[in-house]
Amino acid sequence: MAEHYQLKCRECGKLWGNEPRSFCDECLSPLEVSYDMDVARGRFTRENIEAGPTNLWRYNALLPLPEGFQSTLPTGFTPLVEAHHLGKQLGTRNLYVKNDAVCFPTLSFKDRVVAVALAAARRFGFKVVSCSSTGNLANAVAAQAAREGFDAWIFIPADLEPAKIIGTQIFGAKLIRIAGNYDQVNRLCSQIAEKFPWGFVNVNLRPYYAEGSKTVGYEIAEQLGWRLPDNIVVPMAGGSLITKIRKSFSELIALGLVEEKKVKFFGAQATGCSPISDAVKRRLDQFEPQKPATIARSLAIGNPADGFYASRAIRESGGWAEDVSDPEIVKGIQLLAETEGIFAETAGGVTTSVTRKLIEQGYIGPNETTVVCITGNGLKTIDAVSQEYALTPAIAPRLTEFESFINDRMAAVAGK
Ligand SMILES: Cc1ncc(COP(=O)(O)O)c(C=O)c1O
Ligand SMILES: [Zn+2]
Repeated sequence: MAEHYQLKCRECGKLWGNEPRSFCDECLSPLEVSYDMDVARGRFTRENIEAGPTNLWRYNALLPLPEGFQSTLPTGFTPLVEAHHLGKQLGTRNLYVKNDAVCFPTLSFKDRVVAVALAAARRFGFKVVSCSSTGNLANAVAAQAAREGFDAWIFIPADLEPAKIIGTQIFGAKLIRIAGNYDQVNRLCSQIAEKFPWGFVNVNLRPYYAEGSKTVGYEIAEQLGWRLPDNIVVPMAGGSLITKIRKSFSELIALGLVEEKKVKFFGAQATGCSPISDAVKRRLDQFEPQKPATIARSLAIGNPADGFYASRAIRESGGWAEDVSDPEIVKGIQLLAETEGIFAETAGGVTTSVTRKLIEQGYIGPNETTVVCITGNGLKTIDAVSQEYALTPAIAPRLTEFESFINDRMAAVAGK
């Protein structure tokens, strides 16, 4: 049976069938996967989804997977947790955290996009998979390539966090550190993709890969009881995730799985790399590329591939974008951890602190339902917060020692 999806140019609408390509030769615009919605309507029903596995493959009727595709990788279906304590601190009552810090297998939402991309890589006959990455994608490609039997070649900026480097090498991937920033790494990968017969998940397989992000949105709607939130706050690097969550909500509405609702999309960036939030705030049609300088390395993309579409999606939705400084990122990580017991990476600090700002500015109301997307795990970026937690001197394993320790502590607190 022919597939019910194919690549379509986002601007001129030309159809391209299914092949490893991300740009339209006619007009040089990016391609996106487009589905035959009549076929999807019969398959993508609440009943079918609820009868499916408790992972992202329950949504396979709206993912670009080969016919008969089967996977045993239980990625996705991460918790959506009520965040009462955080909401109380920030001044809003119906706050939720979508927690992809515990996504399987490498603790970020990138596990989702890679799961879909590797299905495409297999189908197109690639033996080697590759990517340019700010860290999390590197981890996800390396881990899943190991399990699926691909060779992996991973390109990163040389100065990534140690945990993200080891978290790539441990899986046996070939890691190429580039003396440059992500945008330079990505440009190099586009050139390599022209010459080497490799499946670059975020270059020639990008349209397929990006569809994996829609599953964040499907899950949020299903976990809210088949309903959409009023607001959603999403961290942005290349700008793909936010546009794909929006696409997922539109598809759910179009197929009648949820009631129609205008969800406001809010984009979050670090001030040290904020081309998309800057474009939204200045109401520019095109973003201006930036040179990144922030501790939020996973979001440090100065020339975002989907920046134009992300800022347009935010504006069309009636939402807004904000950015926060490095100290605010650290405070955001601490606030989320201390109120909800969730240790997020720097991107989560960005999202939490941007949410605080948006509530203070009145963009998000106190009675609205708001979902904050936490997309990566704090154990990968401990260097961002380690200076906040000086080690106390070790004490001897004796009760008297402990008693004098605690007395000193109490006195210190009382004297404050
Ligand atoms: C933890 C984390 N959150 C969010 C993003 C942003 O995703 P996108 O590039 O789709 O905007 C990334 C991208 O690397 C990431 O690593
Ligand atoms: Zn075109």
